Formats: sequence, C-alpha cells, structure tokens
Amino acid sequence: MRGLLHLPALLASLALLQSAESAASAKLARAAAISDAVSQAKIQVNKAFLDSRTRLKMAMSSEAPTPRQLSAYLKHAKGQTRMAIRFGQVWEESLKSLWQSMSLTNVTDPSLDLASLYGEVGCGAAPAVVKCQKKSPYRTITGDCNNRRNPALGAANRALARWLPADYEDGLSLPFGWTPGKTRNGYLLPLAREVSNQVVGYLKEEGVLDQNRSLLFMQWGQIVDHDMDFAPDTELGSSEYSKAQCEERCIRGDNCFPIMFPPKDPKMKTQGKCMPFFRAGFVCPTPPYQSLARQQINALTSFLDASFMYGSEPSLANRLRNLSSPLGLMAINQEVSDHGLPYLPFDSKKPSPCEFINTTAKVPCFLAGDSRASEQLLLATSHTLFLREHNRLARKLKRLNPQWDGEQLYQEARKILGAFVQIITFRDYLPIVLGDEMQKWIPLYQGYSESVDPRISNVFTFAFCFGHLEVPPAVFRLDENYQPWGPEPELPLHALFFNTWRMVKDGGIDPLVRGLLAKKSKLMIQNKMMTGELRNKLFQPTHKIHGFDLAAVNIQRCRDHGQPGYNSWRGFCDLSQPQTKEELGAVLQNPKLAEKLLELYRTPANIDIWMGGIAEPLVSGGRVGPLLACLLGKQFQQTRDGDRFWWENPGVFTKKQRDSLKRVSFSRLVCDNTHITKVPRNPFQANSFPQDFVDCSAIDELDLSPWGAEEN
Ligand code: HEM
Ligand SMILES: *[C@@H]1O[C@H](CO)[C@@H](O)[C@H](O)[C@H]1NC(C)=O
Ligand SMILES: *[C@@H]1O[C@H](CO)[C@@H](O)[C@H](O)[C@H]1NC(C)=O
Ligand SMILES: *[C@@H]1O[C@H](CO)[C@@H](O)[C@H](O)[C@H]1NC(C)=O
Ligand SMILES: *[C@@H]1O[C@H](CO)[C@@H](O)[C@H](O)[C@H]1NC(C)=O
Repeated sequence: MRGLLHLPALLASLALLQSAESAASAKLARAAAISDAVSQAKIQVNKAFLDSRTRLKMAMSSEAPTPRQLSAYLKHAKGQTRMAIRFGQVWEESLKSLWQSMSLTNVTDPSLDLASLYGEVGCGAAPAVVKCQKKSPYRTITGDCNNRRNPALGAANRALARWLPADYEDGLSLPFGWTPGKTRNGYLLPLAREVSNQVVGYLKEEGVLDQNRSLLFMQWGQIVDHDMDFAPDTELGSSEYSKAQCEERCIRGDNCFPIMFPPKDPKMKTQGKCMPFFRAGFVCPTPPYQSLARQQINALTSFLDASFMYGSEPSLANRLRNLSSPLGLMAINQEVSDHGLPYLPFDSKKPSPCEFINTTAKVPCFLAGDSRASEQLLLATSHTLFLREHNRLARKLKRLNPQWDGEQLYQEARKILGAFVQIITFRDYLPIVLGDEMQKWIPLYQGYSESVDPRISNVFTFAFCFGHLEVPPAVFRLDENYQPWGPEPELPLHALFFNTWRMVKDGGIDPLVRGLLAKKSKLMIQNKMMTGELRNKLFQPTHKIHGFDLAAVNIQRCRDHGQPGYNSWRGFCDLSQPQTKEELGAVLQNPKLAEKLLELYRTPANIDIWMGGIAEPLVSGGRVGPLLACLLGKQFQQTRDGDRFWWENPGVFTKKQRDSLKRVSFSRLVCDNTHITKVPRNPFQANSFPQDFVDCSAIDELDLSPWGAEEN
C-alpha cells in the first residue's frame, strides 16, 4: 500500500541474514512492520469515519433527502457499533497492506503474527468487556452474561455466526461480482438489478393480497427482525475513493459496491448508471483465527428480548428511560401526544430526515431502542404500542409493589415485555410462517441448554427478508367503525418512509392500528414477488426524487456478506440440490421460473440465497418454502433454547406468572394502549369487520397479581 513501499525491501534484506542474532532482529522488524501498517490504516480509516459523519450531517440538512441519504441514515452505525466496525476496518486494511508488502499469499503464513496485529489494532477494546453479575435475575442490555460459559455469546456488536463458511471471490473479503470477468462456479453472475427486473418485479398490483393474513402479520415480522439483527453500513476505508465517486460515477472500490443498472433499465434515464451501495460493517476476527474472512456485525442482542424498544447499548438504554421519576418509566415525547396517550420521544439529533419529508409539518424522527423505528409509519406505530405498554405495566407494578424502586419497576416491566415478544412470536406468528414444518424445526420446549448457540446467523438476516414480499403496495387508515378514515384514507407505501408527520399531525396511531388489524398482507406469489413500491420507490417519500430497489439491495447484500449460494444452503438443510433446469423446475414446482432463473444464473448453485429462498413454493399452511422453513426454524429454535432468560425456563418466572403470561395477546395490547374498542380474536389472520371483531371486554387482560407483594 502507499507509504509502505519500503517494507518488501526491508524484509527481503532481512531474510538474507542468517545468524541467530538476525532472527531476533527480523522479529523486531516484523513487529515494526505491523505497527507501521496499523498506524497507516488507522489514519485512513479515522479520516473516512470523520468525513462520513460530516457528510451525513450536511446531507440531512438539505431539503427533500434523496434515497441515498435516507439509506445512509437508516444504516448508520452508532456508539459501540461504530467503534467495533472501525477496528474491523483497521484490521482488514492493515492485514491487506502487510500481505502486499510481505508478498504473502497464504492466510496462515506463520511469518505474519496475527496475535500482534490483533493487539496493535486494539481489537480487544470494542465492544467493551462486561463484568457479569452472577445472580442478576435480569438480562443485561447488551445481551452479555446470558451464557455463563461464554458470556459474549449472543451479545450486541459481535460477529454474526456462520453456519457455513463465508464465500468471497478472493476468499477473504471481496464479494462475487466484484472483479469484471471473474466467475463463480464457472459462470459470470448476473447483475443484482437484472435479477430483480426479470424475476422479482411485476406490473399489475391486483390480486396480490393474502386472503388469510392480516397486515399485522407482515408488521410483526419486521418488529421481530428488528429485535434480532441489524447489520449497519461500514465507511469507506481509504481516502482514495471518495463517496462522490461511488455515488455519482458508480466507481467500484473499497467498501463501495454500486448496484449497476442493466442496459435498457428504465431507471437509467433518471438515475444515471447505478444505485449506490455501501458494504456492511464487519468486525475483527476472533482468536484463534480459524478464518480471516470478513464477518459482518450484529449491532443488536441476538436474543428475543424486546431490545428494539430498550436498546442494545447501555448509553442508549439510559437515554430511553425516564430517570427523573422513580416509576421505572420509559421517556415519552414532551412536545406532542396522541389524544392523551404518549408518543415515542423525538430523536434530538438534528438535522432529522423525517422533518424534510414535509417541511411545513416538520416532524422529526422518533428515538427508540432500534435506530430504524421511523423507517416506515407502521413500524413506528408498533414501537409506540410497546412504549405505552411498558409505562402501563410499570405503573401497575408500582401499585402492587409500592416498595419497588424505579430500577426494579423498569426491569420487571421490561422482563414482561420480553416474554410478550417471545410468546406472540412462538405461539401466534411462527406456526403460521412455518406451517406444517413448525414441529419439525421447533419441537416443544425442553428447557435451556448452555451448549445451544443463540447467536443470529449471517444467513438468517437474509432468510428473514422473506417479509419484504409480504409488504402490500398501500396502507389504509380506518375509523371507529373500520371504515375509511379522513379524506385520504389510503396511502401508497412509499409515502410512509420516514414519514412521522402522518402520525403526529394526521390522526395519531389508532387509524393505522385498525388498518393493521383489518387489512391484509401481500402474499408471496412466484410471478408477483415484490411490490413496485419497494422495488422501484424505496426511500422515495416525496415525489421529486427517484427510489431504490429493495430486491436488488437484498441480492447485492448476499454477495457483500459472502453468502454461499442456493445449493450450498439446500445441502446444509438436507434438501436436494438441483443441477439442471428440469430439477430446479421440479423443486420450484414452476418450470418457467426455473428457466428465468437459469437464463440469468446459468447454474442453480449460483442463485443468491435470498432469491432462491423466496422463489420456492410455500409449505402447507405456511408462508415460506422448505429452505427458508429450515433456516428460520433452526434459528428460532436456537434463539429459544440458547436463551437462559427464556420465559419458560424454570426460575425465570414463577408458575403463576407463567400462567398469566400464557394469556397475553396482541389484541389486548391494542385494547390497553389505544382508544380502540373492537379487536379480532386472531389478529394475524385476515379479519373482516364486524363479524370477526369482538369488544375489548371479551379479551383476557394480563393478570398481574402474581407479581404482587403477597406472592413474593
Ligand atoms: C415497509 C416495510 C419494509 C421496508 C421499507 C424494509 C426495508 C428494509 C431495508 C431498506 C433494509 C436494509 C437492506 C440492506 O441495506 O441490506 C431491510 C433489511 C431487513 N429487513 Fe426489511 N423492510 C420492510 C419490512 C420487513 C419485514 C416485514 C421483514 C420481516 C418479516 C423485514 C426483514 C428485514 C431483515 C431481516 C433485514 C436485515 C436486517 C439486518 O440484519 O441488517 N423487513 N429492510
Ligand atoms: C499455508 O501455509 C501453511 C504453513 O506454511 C501450510 O501448512 C498450508 O498448506 C498453506 N496453505 C496453502 C493454501 O497454501
Ligand atoms: C386461515 O389461517 C388459520 C391460521 O391462522 C387457519 O386455522 C385457517 O384454517 C385458515 N383459513 C383458511 C380458509 O385457509
Ligand atoms: C418523567 O416522568 C414524570 C412523572 O411521571 C413526567 O412528568 C415527565 O414528563 C416524564 N419525562 C419524560 C421525559 O418522559
Ligand atoms: C404537510 O403537513 C401538513 C400538516 O402539518 C399538511 O397539511 C400538508 O398537506 C402536508 N404537505 C404535504 C405536501 O404532504
């Protein structure tokens, strides 16, 4: 690398000296080479991080943010996550420059002292090591200390787990499709956007709704995902490539991996040659360095613990609390409220892109445990329900236990909400995602096991993106009688991105919640996969600008993460590995779709895992195919069985508390935290008003008496 050109000469001349004395000095020289390489890399990476923050700030203070700016805001790494990613980048840059200067080709070459490199970079410093309190009855915010044998297992800001080894073009970090002319399994990969255009897109939005799943079914999936994983962007590593080069001139380099438009793409006319794409953040490898391949970070705790509302870092968790009252409350919005009920606080960081969606309304983005809460209006709506529920529970617990302090009230309410998320997900949601395959992957709970790995796997972050095909083209707001609300009841989905004013200044959350309950999700259909609202208008909340393509992003992201191809994962799941068009046609039960995929990919082995997973026909009673059922099922089983604080694990709750918790429902959450009085009994099923709706009085309330003083 530049500035290190003297190194090969230095090392070569050292190699000529043969005495024992020179062996010692060679060692010294190697140490010097490492520290030299690391300090160079640090300078470059620090500069890139500084630049990007300034750029983001400036970009957000302009009117009408572009899709690129909204995407940068959404995928921005903060706090400890940002530190961990920075160390990861310094590690990789140093490693690369040392390899070049020492002319090494072999990852395990013993002349490169990886432990010294690890120390010199400071890899051990982020995330900070937590001291575990052995007897604490509560989860830590970071997820540390859950597993007693390996306290960091499942903690935030660690690498996503690999169920299969990473597969990069160069074996280390470059994604397939990076080097022009380079093949995978003997074939060139198709452009991500080409696959999206040919396979994922469709023209008519008619007949795409799921006749047996409410819109809440889609929304719960995103909530759960945002409880489990978030892989934010990295920054550009060296100053050689500026962001402008990435964005405007579509030059591939460093961590910039633009999504090129194929010839004749309609977006070429308006958007230039590409959609910008930045590679995901990654961390230092963990000793003993079995693999040096790039490992993407999970900024969240892996556990299903309601971290989307409490945060995965202590500093954020504290900011979200109301520490000025001893009631254990979450902080609420001090400026606006919803017919007497609270909203999430605004994110005080200015400028806020949500304000520029409508410069008259000027409503900022919300602050929540997961930074993506304002990404779309229904997600923010769901966050709001949970915020209200926490405060409702904390107040009730205070009445039952006047002696409890704020900390205990907060922790007990948090513990109940964690259980709530687990119960709704495993009792109500997963059975109708996995259908007949539920029992196969998620057998009845047998208790906690310390040897089950609870970490989110890299492939799961793609498998769970099946939900992108369940997002409908439009959202409806409904009144007390579940009839269209107001003059503009129907909003196209793209109008909801980062749109907080439609909640705060246009009716509050009730009309939106009714829409979640009484409207339908989109159904994954093999020739109508992703709505144009996501596939052409992503992050295009105002009409002036042109949107991104979420399908192309998902495909490009598979390559960015070094994901093995479709057949590798089929093999991992003990499913057949189709080799020919006929075989793929049989697996997909759709010869035409197999033909389209093979025209692009040439071999089934090369189909990107997200694409291949969603293309499969749905299992009976479920909403994913066999491959995704396996990948999702395995992950959720591990998430449950590897969680020491799982709600059913003996000792976490008392028997009486568990009996109370068994009766929680999403409908009751709505009854208790909105002005809505009529709800469906099965809120994930498609429901029609009035026949499928009952009065709130018919829905069980959570009986908190087992939390009362006389019970303890
Ligand atoms: C309107 C609704 C939605 C929008 C606008 C949306 C948008 C996005 C975007 C922009 C990303 C980042 C893509 C990238 O840069 O790689 C993403 C990631 C993701 N989405 Fe969605 N999404 C929606 C709904 C859902 C649903 C319903 C689910 C699940 C059922 C889901 C699951 C995921 C997952 C698992 C990720 C990866 C997260 C990570 O680990 O970083 N999304 N989504
Ligand atoms: C790398 O080097 C080690 C030790 O010198 C050797 O055992 C190994 O076979 C080499 N690997 C490759 C892929 O050349
Ligand atoms: C709709 O889904 C539910 C599960 O949520 C199932 O019990 C029911 O049989 C389904 N109805 C139809 C008509 O498929
Ligand atoms: C904190 O709680 C007190 C007492 O309920 C309330 O008056 C105040 O508005 C709350 N502050 C925040 C930021 O939520
Ligand atoms: C902006 O918000 C205001 C409400 O504050 C609304 O009346 C107006 O129609 C909105 N403008 C646009 C362009 O949506």
